[in-house]
Amino acid sequence: MTEDNVNGRLRIAVVIGSVRRPRLADPLAAWLERELTAIDWLDLDMIDLASVSLPMHEMQPGGAAASPIAGRLAGADGFVFLVPEYNHSFPAPVKNAIDWHFTEWAYKPVAFVGYGASGGIRAVEQLRVIFPELRATTVRESVLLPMAWERLDADGRFLPPPGTVQALHVMMNELRTWARALRPHRVTDLAGRA
Ligand SMILES: Cc1cc2nc3c(=O)[nH]c(=O)nc-3n(C[C@H](O)[C@H](O)[C@H](O)COP(=O)(O)O)c2cc1C
Repeated sequence: MTEDNVNGRLRIAVVIGSVRRPRLADPLAAWLERELTAIDWLDLDMIDLASVSLPMHEMQPGGAAASPIAGRLAGADGFVFLVPEYNHSFPAPVKNAIDWHFTEWAYKPVAFVGYGASGGIRAVEQLRVIFPELRATTVRESVLLPMAWERLDADGRFLPPPGTVQALHVMMNELRTWARALRPHRVTDLAGRA
């Protein structure tokens, strides 16, 4: 692993966790995409679960070969889940997308942008319980967007509260640290493990 490989650009996939129409996820994802595109150390891949077919009845334990997003997830160095809170947890399609895959998550960091009345904190914290089973780690910082539906302008664009962009950058810097730290382990440490 050369210095360039360790410190070079990282591919970060944003997973949009709401699949309903209409959805608050749209202006939030647009805002997130604008902010993350401006970060110079990453290449962004926006993965919208609403556009992906992952039938629950075709899922195999440990992941399935036919996933239309397996390659995109495998190619990512880290993940940001944009996740709303539904009934004090995260939406079912998020768990389905997680379960459909396995090695794609391994030895990678996961960060969260949550939203809901309380910023989606219960969705975020419940997701943290899941990822160690997939050999993924979650980063300490998260971005929580409480009552984000009250922060849309006349054109429907999300106007983040003060401090939000700074919090996003702090979280992304932590994601970068973990992504760089874990990248050398992805191939070697996965070999031979079930
Ligand atoms: C089925 C359902 C359950 C919800 N439960 C909660 C909840 O427990 N806590 C909360 O803060 N918001 C809850 N909400 C409100 C959502 O956080 C809010 O509608 C948000 O905009 C949903 O994101 P979306 O429009 O991108 O799907 C719920 C919404 C739905 C559709």
